[in-house]
Amino acid sequence: MFAVPLSDTLPAELRPLEPWHAEEFLAHMDRARENLNRFIGFADLTTDLDSARATLQRYADRAAADTARIYGIWLDGTLVGGVMFPHFEAKQGWAEIGVWAEPAGEGLGLVSAGVRELIEYALVERGLQRVEWLSSTRNARSRAVAQRAGMTLEGVKRSYYPHGGIRHDKEIWALLAEEWQDSEPRATLLRSRAAR
Ligand SMILES: CC(C)(COP(=O)(O)OP(=O)(O)OC[C@H]1O[C@@H](n2cnc3c(N)ncnc32)[C@H](O)[C@@H]1OP(=O)(O)O)[C@@H](O)C(=O)NCCC(=O)NCCS
Repeated sequence: MFAVPLSDTLPAELRPLEPWHAEEFLAHMDRARENLNRFIGFADLTTDLDSARATLQRYADRAAADTARIYGIWLDGTLVGGVMFPHFEAKQGWAEIGVWAEPAGEGLGLVSAGVRELIEYALVERGLQRVEWLSSTRNARSRAVAQRAGMTLEGVKRSYYPHGGIRHDKEIWALLAEEWQDSEPRATLLRSRAAR
């Protein structure tokens, strides 16, 4: 349907991730599972084709209700990661951003490029006041993405959630509309599509 280029040097694109991608999404989750399971339970929502469809259908339903959205990152035609709004609260003026990548999609700056698109959509196109980011204090790569986006660490919820047999402290990062400066503006189709 439409694709947003994520890099000047790599054939990488951000596209809507929809229920019809279920098979591709399952294969990607299988490649990403070990990487994700260190910090989040997202991959384990998708263990077979039915659960892959259900995960993507849930996001499709919530996108229709304007309460969540999910986008995939394709590198050279392969789904290697993604970015999402697990929560999009238009009336309250805030959204949460979440991300993931399989090893082949990591270390290339693609997730950060996708995050910039979501921030631009939320704070500029939709006029939200705040985007936030939640991650384990143990998750250095996730923290680095929040920092690259110019977010501020607001606090730490101590011993907040159990994962992988231990309790994790959770960092809360956020960016306010007046703080957002996209250092790498690009022609975003997310924006032009939403404007139609
Ligand atoms: C968190 C996660 C998505 C981060 O992925 P990532 O690829 O490191 O994120 P970015 O897109 O910001 O890429 C940054 C890396 O690309 C490199 N890079 C290359 N070109 C770049 C560019 N143009 N811009 C920015 N970074 C670039 C950076 O140097 C950095 O690599 P390094 O850490 O080895 O130095 C990934 O580690 C992951 O899936 N983790 C498991 C799931 C998870 O924790 N999700 C988040 C839960 S809160």
